[in-house]
Order: sequence, then C-alpha cells, then structure tokens
Amino acid sequence: MNTLTVDLGDRSYPIFIGSGLLSDSSLYTPYIKGKQALIVTNTTVAPLYLEQVKSALTDFQVDVVVLPDGEQYKNLETLNQIFDTLLEKQHNRTTTLIALGGGVVGDMTGFAAASYQRGVNFIQVPTTLLSQVDSSVGGKTGVNHPLGKNMIGAFHQPQCVIADTRTLTTLPERELSAGVAEVIKYGLICDSSFYGWLQENTSLLMQCDSKALAYAIERSCQDKADVVAQDETESGIRAILNLGHTFGHAIEAHQGYGNWLHGEAVGAGMLMAADLGCRMGDISTQEVSELRQLLIEAKLPVVGPVDMSIIDYTSRMQVDKKVLDGRIRLVLLKTIGEAYITSDVPSDLLNQTLSAGEMLGQL
Ligand code: NAD
Ligand code: GLY
Repeated sequence: MNTLTVDLGDRSYPIFIGSGLLSDSSLYTPYIKGKQALIVTNTTVAPLYLEQVKSALTDFQVDVVVLPDGEQYKNLETLNQIFDTLLEKQHNRTTTLIALGGGVVGDMTGFAAASYQRGVNFIQVPTTLLSQVDSSVGGKTGVNHPLGKNMIGAFHQPQCVIADTRTLTTLPERELSAGVAEVIKYGLICDSSFYGWLQENTSLLMQCDSKALAYAIERSCQDKADVVAQDETESGIRAILNLGHTFGHAIEAHQGYGNWLHGEAVGAGMLMAADLGCRMGDISTQEVSELRQLLIEAKLPVVGPVDMSIIDYTSRMQVDKKVLDGRIRLVLLKTIGEAYITSDVPSDLLNQTLSAGEMLGQL
C-alpha cells in the first residue's frame, strides 16, 4: 500500500492506494470519531463490495443506503434518500458517512456529509478509476441541476480516501476509458513527463494492468493533491483541473446526464481545448494530433455529439462555475504540461473549434 497526503493544514488527510484494502478495518477506524457510520453506495456496487466494507466496521452501528445507479440520479431528490436514512436511524453529529462507489456516489455522499446537521465527517472509498484519480480527492461535492452540472454543492474534505485498486477488475471498459481521460488531464495540465509515460503505457492501462494502474493512480493523486494544497477552494490555480470540463459539461447537460459519461465528455472537451489553444497560437498542431491519438488509444471520443450546434455549446458554457461577469473563462494549454486560464478567447476561434466538421476535418 502507498500513502499520499493532501496537505491542508489541520484538515490534511491521507489517500491510501493499494490492492485489497476494502476490508482492512485499520484504515477506517482512526477516521471514525463516533459510534455510527452510514455506508452510501448504489445498486451496482453494493452486490460487489458492500459486505467487504461492512466486515471492516464491526465495532460500529452501521447503516446502509443503496441509491439508484446513474448520473441522472445525481440530484437533490436522490440526495434526500441519504438524509431520510440518517434521520430514521437517528444518526447524530459524530456520525461518519462512507461513500462506496464511483464519483456520483462520492459527490452525493460528500454533499450529504457537508450539510447533514451542518456538517459531519465522511470517508471516500472510490471504486472507479475516475473516482480514484480525481473525484474522491480535493473535497468538491455536490449534485446536478437540470440547467447545469454540479451547480449545487459545497467544498467538504473527507477524513481519508481508501482507493482499493482491486475493485477496478470489475469495471466495464467504457468506465475505464472515462477514468483514463482524467489521468491524461494531469499530464496535459502540469506533468509533461507523466504525459510521456502515458504515450508509452496507455495500452497497459486499457488492459487493466495492475502495476500500470497503480502507478497512474498514484501519480494522478499526487498531481491533484499538489494543486488542491495550493488552492483548496478554486480561487486561482485549481481551475486548471477543469481542462476540457467547460466543453464537457456542456456536452453532458445537452445530451442528458448519463448518456455521455463524464470522462468521455472531458476527453472530447480536452481535445477541443487543445484545438482552440492551437488556433490561438499556443500548443502546436503536432501536439494536438498526438493528443488525438492518445485519446483514440484510450477509446475516448475525439469529437462532440454530431447534433450539437455552436449555440448549444455556448449557451450551456455560459452556465459554468468559472464564468465571471458573463464572460466564459476557459482552461487552455500553452504546451503539454502547462495550462492557463483565460477569458480572452476570440469568439471566431471558439466557434471554429466548436464546429464538429472543423474538428473532424482538421485534426
Ligand atoms: P459513476 O459514479 O457513475 O460510476 C460509473 C459506473 O460504474 C456506475 O454505473 C457505477 O455503479 C459503476 N461502478 C462503480 N464502481 C464499480 C466497480 N468497481 N465495478 C463495476 N462497476 C462499478 O461515474 P464516475 O466516472 O466514477 O464519476 C463521475 C462523476 O464524478 C460525475 O458526476 C462527475 O461530475 C464527478 N466528478 C467529480 C469530481 C470532483 O472533484 N468531485 C471530479 C471528477 C468527476
Ligand atoms: N475535478 C476538478 C477539481 O477537483 O477541482
């Protein structure tokens, strides 16, 4: 097992990464301050992993809520099921919520923990690649609104993250690809040598090679932890973690949550960001086409939905948490490994990038 730390002063916490960690009670017990715990999971993950987690928690009053599975349920209505169970089972302010599942379960559980009785503790037990490399780390929690992705939420850091790489053996390939998109993101925004490693090793990740996955998870978590430690609540540099997300969130919302996976939308969105950066004179055409190749190797989409118009994109992109004074702000790449955020994007260049025909024809 490897342990990394998210360094946030008195709210610092460990990320445990290794194989077979789910049922290790010594990883949970120090982070549960009271006698109660509520495991939040979903209908897909519960039959696979719930018993293992329960077996680690025999010293506690353990209750369980099993949510429906899917991004389309990441909303306030589903969130209420968590509050209902907490109240029915009389959980008090010392309870600890345990998020067992992918990013949807993690984001909702974290938000429930942020708001139940004005804030209780929670532990992240991510079971998808995407959640192990991204969503379980950094304390962003929340739910979607029909008009915008992750629009209702809070920053609330977990007590610890337990990333059991063995859970990835049951992950469908499409979900693995979605996770690889966020892994590629770290190389693009801040870690060019890792990007070089990914150009050599993405096929191993796609074969679910356990060594390669463990390395990619550790490196991604370290990159994310470094950024979060500098800017916990995204007043500056943390925004670079959203490379491709402004385009991606527009795709997800337009297509209806759950139709395009978050990681798929981010994959296509990162290529759009690279294409736009290239049009603005930053990243080279060679680098853009290498990124396109890498995304193809990871079995990710390299164009947005064919039926999405420029207006569909720009109207959705206006409902983005980075928008300031009505101006869209985007994360772009100076070069591989160096991202920056800007609101100075010429609309004609943005429109060119947003045209699927242009994407297909020129990359
Ligand atoms: P997800 O939570 O929907 O999980 C993907 C699918 O895999 C689901 O059907 C799930 O039930 C299933 N699953 C989970 N673990 C499994 C396993 N081990 N074996 C088999 N099936 C398994 O999706 P995700 O990609 O994990 O997360 C996406 C969500 O994360 C989005 O809502 C996104 O907005 C959010 N997100 C949040 C942050 C953040 O910083 N908080 C960062 C990135 C993404
Ligand atoms: N996934 C973006 C962030 O955590 O800031």
